[in-house]
This record gives sequence, C-alpha cells and structure tokens, in this order.
Amino acid sequence: MDQLMELLKTRRTYRRFRQREIPQETVEEILEAARLASSAANRQPLSYIVIREPEKTAQVFGFTRWAGALPPELGQPKEGERPVLFIAVVENLDINRDCDTDAGLAIGNMTLAAWNRGVGSCMIGACDKAALSELFGLGENQKLHTVVAFGYPSHESHIVDMESPEEFKYYLDENRDYVVPKRKLSDVVRYL
Ligand SMILES: Cc1cc2nc3c(=O)[nH]c(=O)nc-3n(C[C@H](O)[C@H](O)[C@H](O)COP(=O)(O)O)c2cc1C
Repeated sequence: MDQLMELLKTRRTYRRFRQREIPQETVEEILEAARLASSAANRQPLSYIVIREPEKTAQVFGFTRWAGALPPELGQPKEGERPVLFIAVVENLDINRDCDTDAGLAIGNMTLAAWNRGVGSCMIGACDKAALSELFGLGENQKLHTVVAFGYPSHESHIVDMESPEEFKYYLDENRDYVVPKRKLSDVVRYL
C-alpha cells in the first residue's frame, strides 16, 4: 500500500524526456493496463494507436501543445527532449458516444503502469484533433479522445500544498523541475 501511494505521489505529468526507447514489454504492459480498466456497462468502446517510429512521433508532436500555464519557451519540449512514444485513445461511437469516464480510467491505468516502470507521461488534451484523426486514418464511427505522450523523464516534478484557491498554476523551480500545487485535503473533503 505504501508503495502504491508513493507511486501515485510521484506519477506526475512529465514534459521533458530522455531519448531512450521504451522496451516492447513495457509498451505492452501500458496497453494491458488500459485494457483492464473498468468500462460503463462493460461496453469497452476504446481502442489504442501506438506511435513510436521517430518520423511519426515527430509528426504527432507537431500537432500537440504543452504546458499551457507556461510560456512556450519554458513548457514546450525542445528537440532532444520530446516524447519517444504516443498512444492515441480512440472512441468507437457505434459502441458508446459517452466515453469520457472510460477514457479517464484507461489513461489513469496507462500512466500508472508506465510510471511503475519509470516511464513518465503527459496527457495531451490540447492537440489538433482533426489533423491527428486524418494522420491516424480514423473512420466515420471513430473519434480521437486524447493522445498520451510517454518517455523516461529528464526532470522531476513535485507537488506542494496550494495555499490559496487561485494558486493552481504549476511552475518551474530553479532546477527547471515542475512544481504542482494541489488543493489540501481539508479544502476538498467534507464529512457528512
Ligand atoms: C484532461 C487533461 C488534459 C491535459 N492536457 C494537457 C495538454 O494538452 N498539455 C499539457 O502539457 N498537459 C496537459 N495535461 C496535464 C495537466 O496540465 C497536469 O495534469 C496538471 O498540470 C497537474 O499536474 P500533475 O499531472 O503532475 O498532477 C492534461 C491533463 C488532463 C487531466
């Protein structure tokens, strides 16, 4: 249990990566973690596209935006820092048109399974979904939910208590490590 809590604490969003390939068994473990996630009515409307050829990851990267809270020169990964793997989460609209919770659970599982092997991740909602859908060759009944970026991080990320409700923006410290304010438990929990 302590190990799980430690994993949850350190499984943060990572945005700069070493240019080291992720072994196939780790990629498969990440995908298996997604497959194991709960799904509304057990319909399982999600499928996954793996992008890891350098040419293709570069293409996908071009359609993604990083760290909206920071100026691009600080938040956008530079050449030599970019993710080595993307996994696209795709909805099948014929199975279920309301996939947000399923996708969140699958992505949570994937990023945790990755971090368990030292692989950091960043979920990318801010991407050009039309361009990516075309690149992935998605059909009429398919909708791109999210792309998730993966790689071995080259920075750290720490959580700190949020002291005031407006201080939600993450920032970089003097080592260029991410600092992520989280609302305190006492601010978000009420016992009835
Ligand atoms: C739904 C969702 C969409 C996100 N989209 C992006 C994104 O487009 N680009 C990015 O750099 N980070 C993105 N993130 C990462 C958040 O910025 C990050 O989760 C937040 O700052 C808290 O950091 P933490 O994940 O380390 O707790 C997204 C996270 C979630 C949950």
